[in-house]
Amino acid sequence: MLKTRFTELFGVTHPVVQGGMQWVGRAELVAAVANSGALGFITALTQPSPDALAVEIARCREMTDKPFGVNLTTLPSISPPPYAEYRDAIIESGVKIVETAGNNPEPHMPAFRAAGVKVLHKCTSVRHALKAEAVGVDALSIDGFECAGHPGEDDVPGLILIPAAARALKIPFIASGGFADGRGLAAALALGAEGVNMGTRFMCTAESPIHETVKQQIVDASELDTELIFRQLRNTSRVASNTVSREVVSVLSAGGAFDDVRDLVAGARGRKVYELGDPEAGIWAAGMSQGLIHDVPTVAELVDRIVAEAADLIQGRLAGLCAGSDAVLVGS
Ligand SMILES: Cc1cc2nc3c(=O)[nH]c(=O)nc-3n(C[C@H](O)[C@H](O)[C@H](O)COP(=O)(O)O)c2cc1C
Repeated sequence: MLKTRFTELFGVTHPVVQGGMQWVGRAELVAAVANSGALGFITALTQPSPDALAVEIARCREMTDKPFGVNLTTLPSISPPPYAEYRDAIIESGVKIVETAGNNPEPHMPAFRAAGVKVLHKCTSVRHALKAEAVGVDALSIDGFECAGHPGEDDVPGLILIPAAARALKIPFIASGGFADGRGLAAALALGAEGVNMGTRFMCTAESPIHETVKQQIVDASELDTELIFRQLRNTSRVASNTVSREVVSVLSAGGAFDDVRDLVAGARGRKVYELGDPEAGIWAAGMSQGLIHDVPTVAELVDRIVAEAADLIQGRLAGLCAGSDAVLVGS
């Protein structure tokens, strides 16, 4: 219904993406997204090993025959996971679309290129997008300050970042951060993007493999209910506001060091949030788009609704604004 350079390039029906999400981007959700005609990404590092990732990819294939991808997040780390082995597991599994994020994708590009894998690189600034374009990625996903997870350190919201990217980039890109409905999709297209990427909105779907209590917490939350942790460490992350994230903010604001919050931010605690359904168990990512999320639909209902709403807006309200004689006055 909405054909863009993005849908053409990746061979999907809808210009809507479910980006990688630690502990959330598992086969059930990704297959549901693929079956809806959108593009979903299994999160590689949610799997404990490259072999386990291969099993997860096979499991997803059992649930869909539509295209899907894998997210490979290569954040700088003191003891990094074996990124090259995860990359090779993706390639050997025959997956043809990868979402890279967290760092410059250059070291992985030759292997992806040789295997005919299309790379959608996610980043948070125009300069990083230009760099990724120069190293040969196929498309970009540009995360504004609104987003869940890592918004970078520039604090530029999508309303500025997306048109700035449109002016600078040659390859297609999608807008990410703060999108949850058809209004957002129509706006992203108007700003020059070829589609949208969503995280928080897809967490809150029937097929999302997290505890129902956490989904309800997102429904109940507003756009004000997030915290930016790790600002002082220049490794900012937007997470759900809870007792743990507020304590992290307070310790670091008072001059604390990473060691002082290490236990609070442990990934194992964050994972418990989803498994036990305890939103206070640890740190978990959530974006400002929480304020636009009011239900827990199936993925298919959600994607159909967003695309239909955007198409209605474009063909109806927006086209209508141009149809009358006022438009001639405005344009003349
Ligand atoms: C729970 C959660 C976990 C995430 N984990 C990752 C990740 O591991 N790698 C990544 O590239 N992005 C990750 N993200 C970011 C999303 O892929 C996406 O860029 C972001 O959610 C967009 O903002 P939105 O939540 O406002 O839609 C995560 C987001 C959420 C909500």
